Amino acid sequence: MDDTPFGGGAGMVLRVDVMEAALRGRYGIDPVELRARRRVIAMTPGGRLLDEQLAGELSREPELTILCGRYEGFDERILDHFAGEQISIGRYVLSGGELAAMVLCDAVLRKLPGALGDEQSAVQESFSAALEGNPEYPHYTRPADHRGWSVPEVLLSGHHARIESWRREQSRGRGESEGSC
Ligand SMILES: C[S@@+](CC[C@H](N)C(=O)[O-])C[C@H]1O[C@@H](n2cnc3c(N)ncnc32)[C@H](O)[C@@H]1O
Repeated sequence: MDDTPFGGGAGMVLRVDVMEAALRGRYGIDPVELRARRRVIAMTPGGRLLDEQLAGELSREPELTILCGRYEGFDERILDHFAGEQISIGRYVLSGGELAAMVLCDAVLRKLPGALGDEQSAVQESFSAALEGNPEYPHYTRPADHRGWSVPEVLLSGHHARIESWRREQSRGRGESEGSC
């Protein structure tokens, strides 16, 4: 399914004819046509960075097809003619696209109705519109004190408006110092 790169160099490259046979075998149509009918995504380190907005967009698609590379990656013609887009899960290089595809699936699937025990969990969480795109506020549970590390008093107050406002403030603060929490 892969071969040495034209022009020389290290690694093995996923063949375009083999990818075509795999896609035809699975969908029964020309992969060029497939790309026009559904989102066909190639996982690549240099692709569009996966974020909550993209995960939300993909969660509204009826179906997705995800292509994963290994070794040196894809023959460029796969990216040019079969994949409609490239997605990266971060600016680092994994050995293969399988884990990247699973990360993408998880981020997308948890947005589907019924995936979470409490639908509200996905409404107000890091990067959501409800939190103005900021990281989530801190959470605490019992015990209220552990080794002198106490829970912020406001959370024990039962005062919903104050709690809500404290959470907003914390979330905004984290947004301003992004990457430091
Ligand atoms: C070793 S990588 C190939 C790296 C490629 N030669 C390059 O320099 O960009 C093998 C495969 O892993 C997947 N992969 C690796 N890192 C990834 C990332 N950060 N996001 C998405 N996919 C990734 C891709 O499918 C890629 O074709």
